[in-house]
Amino acid sequence: MPHDNEVLNRSSNRPFEDILKASLSRRNVLKRSAVLSAAGFMGAFVGESLLAKGVAAATRQVSAGGTLLAQTSGLLQFAAVKIADAVVDTAVPSISDDYEYQALIPWGTSIQPGGKEYDGNPNTRPTAAEQANQVGIGHDGIWFFGKNGLSSTEGMLCVNHEFGRNSHVLGKDAPETLEDVRLTQHAHGETVVAIKKTNGKWDRGASPNSRRIHGNTEVEVSGPVAGHPLLQNAANNVPQGTVNNCGNGYTPWGTYLTCEENFNGYFGSTEGEAFNEKRTPEQERYGFDFDGFGYGWEKFDERFNLSNPNYANEQHRFGWIVEIDPEDGSKKAVKRTAMGRFKHEGFAFATGAGGRAVGYMGDDQRFDYCYKFVSQTSWRSMLARGLSPLDYGKLYVARFNEDGTGKWLELTINNPKLRKNFKDQGEVLVFARVAADILGATPMDRPEWTTVAPDGAVFWALTNNSRRTETGPASPLAPNPDGHILRMVDSNNHVGTNFTWTIPFIAEETHADGDETTFSDPDALWADPDGRLFIGTDGGQQKGLNNQLLVADPATGEIRRLFTGVSGDEITGCAVTPDRKALFTNTQHPGNGDPTRTNFPAPTDGVTIPRDSTVVITKKNGGIVGS
Ligand code: FEO
Ligand code: CA
Ligand code: CA
Repeated sequence: MPHDNEVLNRSSNRPFEDILKASLSRRNVLKRSAVLSAAGFMGAFVGESLLAKGVAAATRQVSAGGTLLAQTSGLLQFAAVKIADAVVDTAVPSISDDYEYQALIPWGTSIQPGGKEYDGNPNTRPTAAEQANQVGIGHDGIWFFGKNGLSSTEGMLCVNHEFGRNSHVLGKDAPETLEDVRLTQHAHGETVVAIKKTNGKWDRGASPNSRRIHGNTEVEVSGPVAGHPLLQNAANNVPQGTVNNCGNGYTPWGTYLTCEENFNGYFGSTEGEAFNEKRTPEQERYGFDFDGFGYGWEKFDERFNLSNPNYANEQHRFGWIVEIDPEDGSKKAVKRTAMGRFKHEGFAFATGAGGRAVGYMGDDQRFDYCYKFVSQTSWRSMLARGLSPLDYGKLYVARFNEDGTGKWLELTINNPKLRKNFKDQGEVLVFARVAADILGATPMDRPEWTTVAPDGAVFWALTNNSRRTETGPASPLAPNPDGHILRMVDSNNHVGTNFTWTIPFIAEETHADGDETTFSDPDALWADPDGRLFIGTDGGQQKGLNNQLLVADPATGEIRRLFTGVSGDEITGCAVTPDRKALFTNTQHPGNGDPTRTNFPAPTDGVTIPRDSTVVITKKNGGIVGS
């Protein structure tokens, strides 16, 4: 979303862009050396597990101009969507000839069969009460939990609802009543819904565990910040709600993690601009502003009014990772504070050395940071003792060096640099960005999703470079304007304090005339167990393309286009059934809500309001999605 583009980091920490430039000059020397040998390339970029699997990549040719010409590995067998075919009718998606798709649970779908539904009629909208029992808007992070952990035809689907602009949800730019505010609050948050496949089609099922967790649902707060004064309000209100749920994670113990990203934008001040004059440095660092993103909630709901002293700490109750048990509708969602408060994009889980739970997390803002969390001990032993592995552990932030190495810096009050600035660990976590500034973390180009590949490498989507906004989208020669994907290897099986990094994909390198693989602004990432990397994009694509879902083979650099969305949308999220024969992704803000651009998922009629929707992708021959 556009608000990620602001720069809120005023620290003098050296941006990753500078480090990248230095590194790229070395990389270009490598490229000009013509052909990398199979052994050299695979050793440097892939690791040994793929080699052991017999991935047949041979060499990666390099043209005289330096453009990488990918070789095939056999991992990607499907017919790619051709640019010419994808741009014929941008009001509807395009998909590989080898695949088919269906829309599932668009905005307004009743969580339980038989409930009131919203169908995109431009003359109506759901009531706030109806919306609380319907699928929200702004579909983003997503995961499927097969029944009994095994089923690939029946289970619970968790879907994040990141945001919906007032113009889309309300049909007007600003709320006029508390009812309007409640409607948009209920359109945010999370959907947990039973789904099943019958006669080849997916549909919502019925389950007592299907539920909405929205902007007003009661939640729990756990971990080091629970009970901290910074989370207490004079109003003594119970913790409620989750908003701007962007990327996600999932744990091996069967829970879903939803990540609160641009939470600042839902707060505002009834004092107007005068509020900005007296903002605290922490409020500035987190982007609080008198009119937020224009939602206007503060005008009717004091909880979101930054100038109401009774709710002074409500702002600290958002910006966390929230754990949800999809199989138990009686359990509240839990805000896990040990993983710090920032604009969480996602949480890529890994079981590290000693069985520890590890999560890699981006803070999506220009010049913000890459983080990881490491649980205290083995997650299995912690669960056996009744402890959440996500409540006890250490939070780290990344510092990248020019030479392809880096260091994880521990965000702990025991560090004298932090003890000088914070009273306790709770403060360090509430103001994690400030603590990371002090430790000298490396400012990045908007870290979006992360994913852990089967060889243990961690991929980071860095969606685009801050300077592109400064020079404008008409300046394609600005450095790295369309983002890149970074590959990181931890020094000690995810629990180390050092790492190495490389840049396997630079979006700009796919833009040459005649290059069918063009993409920009990588956002969603998911690595499958065979080593394929799924890439969802969010931003202006080249050559008239809508946003897209691509599949890449990092071992060879090969990229194929699997799916393109509809006009004005963003492709978000990536989830699969256990057999990987169905993949769930989303079209978010189709047409930006404008029915003259698209009416998806309704047939094109120029009138029906387009609705954010999950899209289920299957291979016609019944194969694994991505193959
Ligand atoms: Fe919500 Fe950073 O994407
Ligand atoms: Ca995103
Ligand atoms: Ca994005």
